[in-house]
Amino acid sequence: MSPKQNAPYVKDETPGRKAWCSCGESVNQPYCDGSHKSKNTGKAPIIVEITETKKVAWCGCKQSKSGAFCDGTHSKL
Ligand code: FES
Ligand code: FES
Repeated sequence: MSPKQNAPYVKDETPGRKAWCSCGESVNQPYCDGSHKSKNTGKAPIIVEITETKKVAWCGCKQSKSGAFCDGTHSKL
């Protein structure tokens, strides 16, 4: 079963580059753990630069139209 979920992952983030898992296979959601390669998903992570300490709602369903960020699409799935 894929580790992705039908809800955002809300995380307290600190500044820096984060690699959001776009394929849904990482066991370290919402971050890429390299599974997109080992599972031949044909996908790649989206790199996001977080510039300040803040709460981030990362998309867990992988269907958001806003890339790495939850835009509410999960509630229509
Ligand atoms: Fe999903 Fe890398 S593990 S994009
Ligand atoms: Fe909300 Fe994906 S979890 S749009």
